[in-house]
Amino acid sequence: MPAVIVVGSQWGDEGKGKITDYLALQADVVVRYQGGPNAGHTVVVDGQEFQLHLLPSGILYPDKLSVIGNGVVVDPEVLVDEIHSLESRGIDTRGLRISARAHLIMPYHKLLDVLQEESMGARKIGTTLKGVGPAYMDKAARVGIRVGDLLEPDVFRDKLEVNLKDKNRIFQHFYGREPMSLEPILESYLAAAQVLRPYITETSVLINDAISRGQKVLFEGAQGTFLDLDHGTYPYVTSSHPVAGGACIGAGVGPTRIDKVIGVVKAYTSRVGDGPFPTELKDDTGALIREKGHEYGVTTGRPRRIGWLDLVMVKYAAVLSGFTGLAVTRMDVLSGFDTLKVAYAYRYRGQEITSFPSSLSVLSQCEPVYREFPGWPEIDPACRRLEDLHPNVRRYLEFVEEVTGLKVALVSLGRNRKDTLTLENVF
Ligand code: IMO
Ligand code: MG
Repeated sequence: MPAVIVVGSQWGDEGKGKITDYLALQADVVVRYQGGPNAGHTVVVDGQEFQLHLLPSGILYPDKLSVIGNGVVVDPEVLVDEIHSLESRGIDTRGLRISARAHLIMPYHKLLDVLQEESMGARKIGTTLKGVGPAYMDKAARVGIRVGDLLEPDVFRDKLEVNLKDKNRIFQHFYGREPMSLEPILESYLAAAQVLRPYITETSVLINDAISRGQKVLFEGAQGTFLDLDHGTYPYVTSSHPVAGGACIGAGVGPTRIDKVIGVVKAYTSRVGDGPFPTELKDDTGALIREKGHEYGVTTGRPRRIGWLDLVMVKYAAVLSGFTGLAVTRMDVLSGFDTLKVAYAYRYRGQEITSFPSSLSVLSQCEPVYREFPGWPEIDPACRRLEDLHPNVRRYLEFVEEVTGLKVALVSLGRNRKDTLTLENVF
């Protein structure tokens, strides 16, 4: 009765959506446990592209339950749009379940996200401006409004009133802005509530029951390990816990119920937003990978910063989440290069280190120590056996296994669902 967590092992955009969608074929339930509409998960099925922000990547299968767990922050407007847009493309979304305990992103969170970033100037985080950080701030401050409150209009109105009074004080006196009015917010949120009502439930009970019945449950992480609030490159992080432990809190399941943790590793590294990035390529090679890999934010359209694969990071991610195996993605994007580099250590003040530093000033002084690999020609995405891959592809994957001490279970060879090589069964 496997429960499997899929975690990003870099700075997000590792291809978690593609891997989750691929594994979802065998799962009964797919659960998002943290983050919110800051996520952008691309899934390509039969050449049709779907970009998901709040909906779990299992939603594309009609017979699965897709759960938005308590740890997610939900923007009802984004969610309703996403549901309608999928339905207009013929996707049945009746398998969706939303935790009544999940917190809501409110219009003032989105405005605060913008104002806070503006006021930080050069020290800005480079957030997605979706209101995610401010929504988690209110959750921790115990003034948040939850999805379940949408079902009790009087309670919702009360909480909104209290919050608006506070937020408007900040908008007017601190930022010199106009106050926000209550009625339009109330109206649009209660309208969204009508659409969301049938999906809202106690999701933790549902997930635990599914595991007890022997069903297969897949937990889909958003963002990545190095965007984790505790373990990432703070303060250039998101406000939730993408690491595997986040799944327990964000879905309401005990750690003893989890069987496997799959770390998703992109064959190179990317980062959107600010903060240090040791293997960053600011040259033509980086630009080429960006173009080949369409490395532009799904959520914000920003060009992603690109760098070589950094196994110091992946190794640390593996420890933090207790990875049991890896899924390596976008091997196809790296085809056609003469030489590829992979970092396996850093040089800091003349010393070689293999641990990931907690201090950002130390990290920004770290020079990657690279192993060079010969490149490979275009990969046939239909390849179904390791032996059929070019020997240089296999050498690259073997190095990932050697440094991390983990087996590569899945290799993504193209954007489509079917362009995936399974080396070890996950479920
Ligand atoms: P997926 O799930 C990559 C980054 C933002 C910014 C920082 C904080 O597609 O991998 P936030 O809006 O969360 O407060 O921004 O986190 N970020 C992501 N980067 N992929 C994501 O999601 C991200 N979600 C947030 O760029 O640096
Ligand atoms: Mg993404």
